[in-house]
Amino acid sequence: MTELAYLVAAILVILALKGLSSPESARRGNMFGMLGMGIAVLVTLQMSGIENYTWILVAIATGGLIGGVAAKKVPMTDMPQMVAFMHSLVGLAAVCIAVSAFSNPVAYGIAAADGMMHLASRIELFLGTFIGAITFTASLVAFGKLQGLLSGSPLTFKGQHFLNLALGIIMIGAGVLFCVDQSATAFFLMLAVAMVLGVLLIVPIGGADMPVIVSMLNSYSGWAAAGIGFTLGNNMLIIAGALVGSSGAILSYIMCKAMNRSLFNVLLGGFGSDVSAASGGAVIGERPVKSGSAEDAAFLLTNARSVIIIPGYGLAVARAQHALKELVEVLQAKGVKVRFGIHPVAGRMPGHMNVLLAEADVPYDIVEEMDEINPEFSDTDVALIIGANDVVNPAAKTDSSSPIYGMPILEATKAAHILVVKRSLSVGYAGLDNDLFYMDKTMMIFDDAKKACEAMLHAIE
Ligand code: TAP
Repeated sequence: MTELAYLVAAILVILALKGLSSPESARRGNMFGMLGMGIAVLVTLQMSGIENYTWILVAIATGGLIGGVAAKKVPMTDMPQMVAFMHSLVGLAAVCIAVSAFSNPVAYGIAAADGMMHLASRIELFLGTFIGAITFTASLVAFGKLQGLLSGSPLTFKGQHFLNLALGIIMIGAGVLFCVDQSATAFFLMLAVAMVLGVLLIVPIGGADMPVIVSMLNSYSGWAAAGIGFTLGNNMLIIAGALVGSSGAILSYIMCKAMNRSLFNVLLGGFGSDVSAASGGAVIGERPVKSGSAEDAAFLLTNARSVIIIPGYGLAVARAQHALKELVEVLQAKGVKVRFGIHPVAGRMPGHMNVLLAEADVPYDIVEEMDEINPEFSDTDVALIIGANDVVNPAAKTDSSSPIYGMPILEATKAAHILVVKRSLSVGYAGLDNDLFYMDKTMMIFDDAKKACEAMLHAIE
């Protein structure tokens, strides 16, 4: 019955992942995930061998309360650091279980007759421990960088990669020794080195690359859970861990592809450390730009046949999605064809823009992905860019010296007119100036995205 219930829970977790792949089915996916996890917890609690339920219930109540309050309170823009923090807890849990299993293998049923662990259990414990320890400290550093507690700029020093390599060899060497003789020294040396390595692997990575790293740590936390699942002989943990591990790895790959960078390049770090060089030497604000008012923008928009809206990180910061939805409705009522063009890495986390638009009930059929919308720009009157910068930067196509050269972009420059709503000429995530702002057909609306949307709406009405 236990195995059957675990199987049902595992299927629900798979359905959860499937549901989460589209905003339309995401809520249902979440429900499946919660149901699957609920079944898994209940089934685990009724297993024999649990002598004291009090502490378990206290832990569930405390964790549930903290998680519930945090989920309600944390703003959408802070979600990446919350996810990073949660991954650190998964890593820590894996380490705690590993230390506990190492200290008392008989209680975990992984000891042979002589009291020593089976070789297979030692290998599983080795894998679960070091992956868990790296996940724990690396996620904490990622959280610190994203939360602004640590500097977001990459910290690099001479011989860094060599040091990491040396530590990696020591860690694996200690792990192998542990597998051979089950020595406590080797086990704790491996654990300590893995923790240090977790920190050193993340410090050279700039804040800009953190979302990829968070997704990668998500993958690590899954593998750590799967490794510990083998130690505990728990199929649910193995299946869920493997699903998290592989989906996190695939997501990291998709993000890297959208930024036109290899995972290796992200892991080696240093991206965005040289902002002055990144801006191509030109001082931002020195070149003339054409700026206009919300009324000017409203005039252009109402006289357009078709408009493509490109939302970016600034939309999330300003929480302008509801005002924008109203603007869209008013334009549609005037017969303007309005669509959204979504870049896969717009914002700061995968699906960031889709989540915001879904929250404002923007119909899914006018929200198009980059590849679908790009051919449409040349036949579009107005490209309305709201709080986006890097995802429309033409340097990605034209300037081979640019750090984002090769990254696919939304081709807003092909539209007849371009409106850009942002507060200043400041750079975006990649720290680069943007030639699109200085084009003849571009009009800058310097304002907060929400205020600008409301002002345009007011002007049209
Ligand atoms: P960015 O290039 O970061 O630009 C956002 C712009 O929003 C800024 O230039 C800022 O200009 C403006 N802004 C900020 N607050 C605003 C407000 N209240 N009202 C209006 N505008 C505001 O954003 P993007 O175009 O969405 O590009 C995303 C970047 O993040 C890419 O470089 C991508 O590679 C990177 N990234 C994303 C992800 C994921 S998964 N999404 C993962 C890794 C990296 P002002 O300060 O002048 O207003």
